[in-house]
Amino acid sequence: MSKDKGIFRWGIIGPGRIAHKFAQALRAVPGAHLHAVSGRDLSRARDFARSYDADYAYDSTEALVKDDNLDAVYIATPHTYHYEQANICLEHGKPVLVEKPVTVNAGQFQSLATLAQRKNVFLMEALWTRYLPIYQEIRQWLNEGRIGEVRLMTSTFGFKGERDPKGRLFNPQLAGGTLLDIGIYNIAVTHWVMASHPTEVNTQAWFSHTGVDELLTANLIHANGVVSQFTSTFLTECQNDFWIYGDAGRIQVRRRFWDATQASLIIDDHEKTTTRRYRLNGFEYQIEEVVDCVRTGRLESSRMTHADSLGIQQTMDRIRAQIGLRYPFE
Ligand SMILES: NC(=O)c1ccc[n+]([C@@H]2O[C@H](COP(=O)([O-])OP(=O)(O)OC[C@H]3O[C@@H](n4cnc5c(N)ncnc54)[C@H](OP(=O)(O)O)[C@@H]3O)[C@@H](O)[C@H]2O)c1
Repeated sequence: MSKDKGIFRWGIIGPGRIAHKFAQALRAVPGAHLHAVSGRDLSRARDFARSYDADYAYDSTEALVKDDNLDAVYIATPHTYHYEQANICLEHGKPVLVEKPVTVNAGQFQSLATLAQRKNVFLMEALWTRYLPIYQEIRQWLNEGRIGEVRLMTSTFGFKGERDPKGRLFNPQLAGGTLLDIGIYNIAVTHWVMASHPTEVNTQAWFSHTGVDELLTANLIHANGVVSQFTSTFLTECQNDFWIYGDAGRIQVRRRFWDATQASLIIDDHEKTTTRRYRLNGFEYQIEEVVDCVRTGRLESSRMTHADSLGIQQTMDRIRAQIGLRYPFE
């Protein structure tokens, strides 16, 4: 823990695209400071550190975790690295926020969660959507029964992805494919609405030239018969909204549902649209959650528990088993 109680010192592993967004958001969190950055290439890590006034740059995770002044680490590397890097952080007693998907399969996550408990260290998956202000509003509508009993959900997450076989999206060695990269958001919001995991999944997938799913359609079926139907794809831009239908009305989380600032509550012919803007880019809310959890000595967030992450991983494992997607390293 850093010596200055007022400042919360972050480390970042993987100075890539999303790490920039995270580093920018730190500026909107009082007391948060980017202390250190690590990457495979020291000069890239140094450039990144310089851009955000970070104090140190390292060329490996092992070097980063030896820094005694870190209060927490954010892992922003491709999917296949999360497990190993989170392991190293937890072994060194560093609280850790891991980009989605937190691991590649449920077995890996179970092992990380067990380690976090044994070491008494905080662990959370960075599914930032559920901390956005508009989702607090939606939660209130659901709790108040404004749309009655939830019966059905439909959603899409689609964009035209760069078809680079070595890139993160299409490369099987980096656990590419739509399910783990973007379908995870449809699943996570479904689990968040239902506060339970589906008992059945029905999925179809179409594979890319590299052998990962580039178009996937799924029906997640809950024990009480509620169905969540979603499509994820790298082939085309989709509507990218998320509908929650109840027996008394419906909610539209407006595009793009994963970074939404607007939602509509529709009852009969009456539609009310609510807007909740971010303070900066939306990442600030999950950062605040981690700071609060670590400062109050919690091992997991009550809004993104280990059971939540495990449930999402188990749903993705079931879908992958159904569509026959195994990664070369599994
Ligand atoms: N929350 C969100 O909204 C959101 C959005 C996009 C992505 N993500 C997640 O964030 C993570 C990173 O995605 P990104 O789009 O930021 O990826 P990216 O731009 O490719 O950055 C990943 C970084 O990881 C490091 N790295 C280590 N091994 C690598 C390898 N074999 N190939 C490529 N990079 C490697 C690289 O830094 P060095 O080369 O310096 O080591 C690179 O800068 C993924 O888990 C992704 O699912 C989240």
